Amino acid sequence: PSPFLTDALGRPLRDLRISVTDRCNLRCTYCMPGEIFGADYAFLPREELLSFEEIERLARLFVRLSVQKLRLTGGEPLLRRDLPQLIEQLSRIEGVHDIAMTTNGLLLPRLAASLKAAGLQRVTVSLDALDPQVFGQMNGLGVQPERVMAGIEAALTVGLGVKINTVVQRGVNDGALLELWRALRGKAVVRFIEFMDVGNHNGWNMSQVVPSREVIARLADGGEPLRPLDAHYQGEVAARYADAEGFEAGVISSVTAPFCGDCSRARLSAVGQLYTCLFATQGSDLRAPLRAGASDDALLDLIGGIWSVRRDRYSEERGELSAARQQGQKIEMSHIGG
Ligand code: GTP
Ligand code: 5AD
Ligand code: SF4
Ligand code: SF4
Repeated sequence: PSPFLTDALGRPLRDLRISVTDRCNLRCTYCMPGEIFGADYAFLPREELLSFEEIERLARLFVRLSVQKLRLTGGEPLLRRDLPQLIEQLSRIEGVHDIAMTTNGLLLPRLAASLKAAGLQRVTVSLDALDPQVFGQMNGLGVQPERVMAGIEAALTVGLGVKINTVVQRGVNDGALLELWRALRGKAVVRFIEFMDVGNHNGWNMSQVVPSREVIARLADGGEPLRPLDAHYQGEVAARYADAEGFEAGVISSVTAPFCGDCSRARLSAVGQLYTCLFATQGSDLRAPLRAGASDDALLDLIGGIWSVRRDRYSEERGELSAARQQGQKIEMSHIGG
């Protein structure tokens, strides 16, 4: 029998992704466009956020149920004060095999050493282009790629594993992929992600999606052929590739080749809502029972009950869904961190 708790479609609960803030110091056009997330935008007030003690308690319960892998996300997780302290608390949980973080890298020069010391194993850094014009436009604030590169170098220096997430948008950065790959291969695993219709504000359109097979073909045309590798584990989001020297790349094809079939990821928002899909329209509140003094057993029942009836498979259903569902109020990426 599987050691994992499984959902209604037999998928294990293996990963917990924890968002620690909805704020970010970038305004990527595909995630938090500046027109929406401007000076007037109401971010979550501090007292609404789960405390580190509350996050740790929930994480322990998820691990007791069957989670093995934790990932911290945001917004930008490094904007949460004292984040290394949370990592230290989470890394003491027995049964956690992997602790990672998704970050834009800007604060890594300052924080990489303390994150590593606290028990973080690896980071995934978002970087969409090395061309200053292209990257400046995509991050919405004109921030220069050198600043992210400095974060990547800081992470490598202290011995953190590094992956790069590159969201590919047609007509925006699809001409900048070769340069990015050549500069980063061997330093980090570069993953090219199909632009997705997450949230409600990024103006997603199929015409802006570059299918992963086209990304691979374009790299080959540019003199950088890649060969496919076997998956590391079942349910791996990225399909893995390597170049002639064995340097690894990945493609994440959530639009053209959805991977809901073995989606093992639960997502906890910064205010304690549990989401069972990146494209969910509704979560389940864990904070209220937590703050009302619920026992561990009651919380385990609640979480286990939510997972066991889960049937989400949004990316596989996208084509058949009504326009209303596709455009319905989905959770924002900045609340669940991708
Ligand atoms: P590893 O632990 O290194 O294998 O990382 P990962 O690929 O599981 O996590 P990461 O957060 O780096 O995922 C990369 C990107 O893939 C995310 O930023 C999302 O854009 C996308 N992604 C991750 N999980 C899902 C998912 O469950 N559904 C969809 N549609 N996209 C996802
Ligand atoms: N499509 C695909 N990936 C996205 N991300 C954010 N928004 C989108 C989107 N619309 C990814 C970024 C970042 C992570 C948090 O999610 O690459 O690495
Ligand atoms: Fe911030 Fe990451 Fe979203 Fe960009 S993709 S706005 S860096 S949370
Ligand atoms: Fe999982 Fe939902 Fe993504 Fe499918 S669309 S892989 S169910 S998070």
